[in-house]
Amino acid sequence: MAVRTILHYPDPLLKQLSVPVTRFDAELQQLAKDMTETMYDAPGVGLAAPQVGELKRLIVIDCSGKDNPPDLIVAVNPEIIAQEGETCEEEGCLSVPEYYATVKRFSQVTMKYQDIEGNPRQRQAEGLLAVAMQHEIDHLQGVLFVDRLSPLKRSIFRKKYQKLMKQRENA
Ligand code: NI
Repeated sequence: MAVRTILHYPDPLLKQLSVPVTRFDAELQQLAKDMTETMYDAPGVGLAAPQVGELKRLIVIDCSGKDNPPDLIVAVNPEIIAQEGETCEEEGCLSVPEYYATVKRFSQVTMKYQDIEGNPRQRQAEGLLAVAMQHEIDHLQGVLFVDRLSPLKRSIFRKKYQKLMKQRENA
């Protein structure tokens, strides 16, 4: 296993559409393992393949929290097939370091996906897990959580983020 480099906004790969996975082979398994290790190492609660530069419809999520047993979800070709309710949670993203903002999402969702061997799966979720599923699937569409902010909030984000990047360059 290997920890991969996480791409940061404004890397153009993060804006690309990821393609469906059709081959459930050793290469896919390796990518899923690397992504899992990268997510835990960060640490984060979710990671999508384009964040490590692979434009494939593959995400990993673990929202269990550090005091609970792990609950790793490796989801290939995930899609939301049912949703209801509304929630506004503060979100962050490993590709947008040091920036957090409240985003409106569905509060309950059902995600259909395939496991790493290609078997069909389905999982219902609410709360943080439901938010993470929507956030990670957005990545496969080239959408970041900051793209879901109001135009005003987005322009504030851009200014703040440019400042942060400059600080990091000079550090
Ligand atoms: Ni993210």
